Amino acid sequence: MKIKAGTFYGIGVGPGDPELLTIKAVNAIKEVDVVFTAGHQRSGISMAGKIAYEYLQGKEVIALPFPHTFDSVSGRSPHREAAEKIVEALKRPASVAFLTIGDPMTFSTFTYVLEAVRDIDPGVPVKVIPGITSFAAAAAATVTPLAEGEESFAVVGAAKTTEKLSKAIDAVDNLVIMKPYRHSGEVCDILDERGLGMHTWFCVECSRPHERCYLGLDVAREEGSDKYMSLFIVRKELK
Ligand SMILES: C[S@@+](CC[C@H](N)C(=O)[O-])C[C@H]1O[C@@H](n2cnc3c(N)ncnc32)[C@H](O)[C@@H]1O
Repeated sequence: MKIKAGTFYGIGVGPGDPELLTIKAVNAIKEVDVVFTAGHQRSGISMAGKIAYEYLQGKEVIALPFPHTFDSVSGRSPHREAAEKIVEALKRPASVAFLTIGDPMTFSTFTYVLEAVRDIDPGVPVKVIPGITSFAAAAAATVTPLAEGEESFAVVGAAKTTEKLSKAIDAVDNLVIMKPYRHSGEVCDILDERGLGMHTWFCVECSRPHERCYLGLDVAREEGSDKYMSLFIVRKELK
């Protein structure tokens, strides 16, 4: 892919294992002029930056402080402030990348930042390089098919409301529940009520050195509420 000055690249760096970065992502990271990463608000450490560390040496890397937030863009939100810096860099003109864990179009800060960038300059050319999602890594770790044959499959976020989760359980065969962490107790209650406890994998830090996956809800109940890097996979029909 030819990297162009003035273009904004959203790059997925995968779920954690640097070997799960795509060749396309690596080539783009190596070639862009400026790399923005979403750093944790307090520590400033960027998970995406750590995954791509090897390819960031000697590059202009700007870590942006973000809370774990899922609000849409408003006023001087962190997304707006990030977008202002990104648009400034694009106008130099430079090629600019924003790195995101997993895939940029799946529950990612990238889409909020992109919305804010387009708000400032609707004409900015944008290219997205997909990444391997966290749930693809979790399915691989637990050797769980996410969808087979005529099955249906949903990805549900549990960050704000578990209401959608109940509806999704009624509607589909298999589910991934992302961002459960502060709500993991509620999620476990719902799964228990439906008799799905032993149909559920709780997966933490997939593809990372401390990856662990547990069948059933016990560990999720005990530890889920402080494990941000966790998700559930549910298969309603066991074979
Ligand atoms: C902001 S979302 C990022 C999703 C990412 N864009 C993707 O494609 O997977 C953060 C949530 O993704 C999930 N997640 C990301 N990486 C993970 C990993 N390595 N293991 C387990 N869950 C992970 C967790 O549910 C976490 O709360």
